[in-house]
Amino acid sequence: MKTVIEPYRVKMVEPIQLTTRAERERMIAAAHFNPFLLRAEDVVIDLLTDSGTSAMSSDAWAALMRGDESYAGARSWYRFRDTVRDVFGFEQVVPTHQGRAAERILFGVMVGPDSIVPNNTHFDTTRANIEYCGGQALDLECPEADDLDSPYPFKGNMDTAELERLVAEHGPARIPLIMVTVTNNSTGGQPVSMANLREVSRIARGAGIPFYLDACRFAENAYFIKRREPGFADRTAADIAREMFSLADGCTMSAKKDAFANIGGFLCTNDAELAHRERNILILTEGFPTYGGLAGRDLEAIAVGLREILDEHYLDYRLQSTRYVVEQLAAAGIPVVRPAGGHAVYLDARRFLPHVEPLQYPGQALAVELYLEAGVRGVELGSVMFGSDPHTGEEHPARLELVRLAIPRRVYTQSHMDYVIEAVGRVWERRHDVRGMRITEAPRFLRHFTAKFERL
Ligand code: F0G
Repeated sequence: MKTVIEPYRVKMVEPIQLTTRAERERMIAAAHFNPFLLRAEDVVIDLLTDSGTSAMSSDAWAALMRGDESYAGARSWYRFRDTVRDVFGFEQVVPTHQGRAAERILFGVMVGPDSIVPNNTHFDTTRANIEYCGGQALDLECPEADDLDSPYPFKGNMDTAELERLVAEHGPARIPLIMVTVTNNSTGGQPVSMANLREVSRIARGAGIPFYLDACRFAENAYFIKRREPGFADRTAADIAREMFSLADGCTMSAKKDAFANIGGFLCTNDAELAHRERNILILTEGFPTYGGLAGRDLEAIAVGLREILDEHYLDYRLQSTRYVVEQLAAAGIPVVRPAGGHAVYLDARRFLPHVEPLQYPGQALAVELYLEAGVRGVELGSVMFGSDPHTGEEHPARLELVRLAIPRRVYTQSHMDYVIEAVGRVWERRHDVRGMRITEAPRFLRHFTAKFERL
């Protein structure tokens, strides 16, 4: 069959509240033109994030009832730990309440004021946690990532020539770890190839520097490798994921992405001494090492989700449904990052609104218009998110001005996506009338969450 269907059926529904344009005008103004400040029930299609927004399966809901809420040594912990060990292959598992807690603990024990941490592209919390420890977070994305139209199949790759140069210059004395984010969220949900991971691993191991994966979307990355990289077509996504992890010394993970959970995360390593130091911080800030800020029922749901995410019927549908949106938009001439990434569609606001200056935030303006047009909520990834130096307060245009429409897992159907495609098309038709924005109030760190805006 050519028709790609959602490989699940609906058992429970959550109503969507439809709104009029006049209502949305009022609501976005009350939210200071920042979609993060809207009430979720005032959003028609919520593509703010794919994080924690997944629909759990009937098996995962059933597993919640099995949750063992014992403080120490709960049955649910062992089920969770054994699943993580099996899927990821690391010996030491440290549970946390979400991904950024794993980052904070990892960098708390490994990163100091002189440290440099390279990544293909740091996610915003990763960067902020490194900077909070006094370190420098360096992005080494491959050159192809800059060309939003390049059909290169692994635009999430790290620039390994640059990594090699950096490692030769600074060595393990200043580089406490090397990270690679799979898939690369900040440059379009683009995958990283196995060849690239092998090369990073070779450089890291040659220099005696630990190599970590930011593994949030590991299953999507594994399936991209299966479909795009020669030599992997006959291997399972689970097997490919195991090989990805075997190249690394540890990982941080947000179970809110590729584990279908609404909350949760963990930190892995094979280094027992390091894990011991991590657990000491864990006890201070998250909880006892057998629950780490999670309820027993959350541990159960994650254990189920980590198996389900590697179902290739699901992964095939997931990547094809994202590609469907990208191809429809591209066919209408709308500037969108290609090829399609895994979890989201990225509109190129710089080319969508070329008359809006970077520091008048074309991405923010476009995100606001999508909400006004149809109640679709996306997020700016541009000069609002990346354009301000938290130490000096100075502003510089970001490398890219994108709007991300992240697709929650198993939540929306194809007709919802057709509605989104129509909404983007309608804004595209009246793009010449869209004006830029001005920030009226913003905090220093992670300003995009709470900044307030005015239209110019
Ligand atoms: N790393 C990556 C690549 C992420 O995308 C995220 C979260 C995190 C780490 C942090 O995980 O939210 O569980 O603390 N990304 C979400 C997003 C928020 O919308 O892309 P967390």
